[in-house]
Amino acid sequence: MEQLVILYDNRAVEGFKADWGFSLLVELEEESILFDTGAKPEVLKHNMEAAGVDPAEIGRVFISHNHWDHTGGLPSIIEVNREFELYIPETDCYKIEEELPESVICVPVVAPTYITERALSTGVMPTGMEEPAEEQSLIVFSQMGAVLITGCSHPDIVDIAKKAVSLIGEELFLTVGGFHLYNFSDEEIKEVSEELKKFTRFIAPCHCTGERGIEIFKENWGDRFVEAMAGVEIPLTEE
Ligand SMILES: [Fe+2]
Ligand SMILES: [Fe+2]
Repeated sequence: MEQLVILYDNRAVEGFKADWGFSLLVELEEESILFDTGAKPEVLKHNMEAAGVDPAEIGRVFISHNHWDHTGGLPSIIEVNREFELYIPETDCYKIEEELPESVICVPVVAPTYITERALSTGVMPTGMEEPAEEQSLIVFSQMGAVLITGCSHPDIVDIAKKAVSLIGEELFLTVGGFHLYNFSDEEIKEVSEELKKFTRFIAPCHCTGERGIEIFKENWGDRFVEAMAGVEIPLTEE
């Protein structure tokens, strides 16, 4: 069965550790892609074990942006797996490459790029910060439709969703990840929540969306809201 497994989040279900950061495993029939790695190697390791995920079998790691709460868990992968491809915004590729074993291939991303036949990077977008200056998001083509996965959404979640839709030419099935709304007012969050309805059928906000933000989305989206926290599995295959 194809699914998303949330491995690292500010919130967690029983048996999993909660900590500020984000990581999600995209499990496809042909391979698994790890999206971000959370903040602490020991937390990622614990949650991978709890989810029954073997880090030795991960062939590709996708890093949305070079923030500690998205790259910090990398050592727990490298510990048991020294042969994977790491996709990261070009501006940070050379920096991170120095910390990686030579057998890990660091692939710099600039423009929208297919990293596998069914996984497309949106290409980098400016974060508006000095460091990291760029962030990428991932689109996965599932049996249910296209899924957009975001790390922190520093470039603005609405702009990212808009770009994703213009790249694939169809509505998204699901948008999941950190939307970076934790310091927004209720009014601002409601506006973003409404705006996103133009682009995606289902929504699963977590990480830096903030607890209040998640609550507002839940109220606003009703049965189109999907709960996301460490330990949650989101099926992408029809039953
Ligand atoms: Fe960030
Ligand atoms: Fe973050």
